[in-house]
Amino acid sequence: MNSELILAIDQGTTNTKALLVNASGRVLHQASVPNMVTYPQPGWAQQSAMALVDGVKQVIAEVVGEAGTGDIAGIGISNQRESILVWDAATGEPIGPVVIWQCRRSAPKCDALRAAGQGEIIEQKTGLALDPLFPAAKIAWILDNAPGARARAEKGELRAGTVDSWLLWNLTGGAVHATDHSNASRTQLFNTETLIWDAELCALFDVPQNMLAEVKSSDTRFGVTAEGATALPAGTPILAMIGDSHAALFGHGVRTPGTVKATYGTGTSLMALTPQRVRSTHGISSTIAWSQGGEVQHALEGNISVSGQTAAFAAEFLGLSDASALSALAETVPDSNGVAFVPALVGLGAPYWRADARGTISGLSLGTKPAHLARAALEAIAFQVADVYSAMEADMGSPLGELRADGGASRNGTVMQFQSDILGRPVAAAAAPEVSALGAAALAFSSLGVAMPGVPAAGQFAPKMDGATAQKHRQRWQSAVTQTLATQDQQLSGGTP
Ligand code: G3P
Repeated sequence: MNSELILAIDQGTTNTKALLVNASGRVLHQASVPNMVTYPQPGWAQQSAMALVDGVKQVIAEVVGEAGTGDIAGIGISNQRESILVWDAATGEPIGPVVIWQCRRSAPKCDALRAAGQGEIIEQKTGLALDPLFPAAKIAWILDNAPGARARAEKGELRAGTVDSWLLWNLTGGAVHATDHSNASRTQLFNTETLIWDAELCALFDVPQNMLAEVKSSDTRFGVTAEGATALPAGTPILAMIGDSHAALFGHGVRTPGTVKATYGTGTSLMALTPQRVRSTHGISSTIAWSQGGEVQHALEGNISVSGQTAAFAAEFLGLSDASALSALAETVPDSNGVAFVPALVGLGAPYWRADARGTISGLSLGTKPAHLARAALEAIAFQVADVYSAMEADMGSPLGELRADGGASRNGTVMQFQSDILGRPVAAAAAPEVSALGAAALAFSSLGVAMPGVPAAGQFAPKMDGATAQKHRQRWQSAVTQTLATQDQQLSGGTP
């Protein structure tokens, strides 16, 4: 029996967690601290860079305080993706906050690049549609808005990094500035075909390449902890770094194309490995899942903007206390009685990409009860996932198999059964809530030559609905989406006040 342990850190937007994991994937100790997000202007979102580091130090100290440091072979990091900051290379002082993934302050830069006809080449090289979500335009914004930053960056005095590299820098006492392929692939500066920072993209976005981290395999020994940096002994190796959505796919034990994972949160991220780099023609991003031993594994990813949040929104709408109360109400009826709720509450993400869309509720009649609306809200979570799943299938050109589910809605049997029914595929809901952290642990173990098993399923759901009924449900949803988008088109063309 292997007695080595991995300290897995999951640095997310809402919480920072540390888990002490053994080679069987058992969590022996864990700690969590909440993180604050501030919204200084409409559309802006940021976090304190030092608070994120302090949170990581705190959860490490809590776990080590309970468990001691014996047998800890190293650290694996999974992190919120696309969030970016710039810091002073000499002092390690951040020159501003972490501009997080949700922040849209760099939209004007993206609009200008789109207007200049650069969207196509950017998508071709990165697999990502030009969007302020990604760090490239955010770095330019920071350099153009922090006093003196651009001149200092040109002189090589500043470093830019995603959250993984910022944590690595701090854990190693400023000795290492590196990132992994998964995080690099989300910056919109990394060419996922040539696997290097792309000089043309850096020029287009006005980002000096000398600020960027060295890109390494996700399972590399990235560096070692510095004396006093954390409660861990100096010299503890950082063995793996990987973006959180990618870590969840790894945590489910997916290693070959054919299986899709869906992390149901506020939004939902679906990801599936692809045999090679695929350029989506169905509204899905192509990205790098991870790299092992330097070998890159490509993936398709679809992000749904409002998913679990649909239940919270509908609960409030119906005067219910929370999403559990909504779920209980939904279970009092067998179906939504023809009601469709398209939760385009911040527009629609993959595979529609209509930032301007607004939510709709359709199919109402005198027979409609609040429970039908509650049911429609839960169904919307599953319908949106099914849309992305089908778009991925179309990109792959072959049927995909089981859906591995994790996150909030994966613990709701009604949603999971309906998901399986309308997909006509089995759905396996993960037994553990911390699939991203466990994925980072599994990757760190793999760098030691140890195969940690994937997170087992707590619930297995097989399709119970007949194909024709499932098809009718999908068609009902599709016409509701079409109607939603048509309404918006009409408004844009001035048809409705
Ligand atoms: O793409 C952003 C995503 O990585 C954020 O994840 O878990 O921090 O909401 P989370």
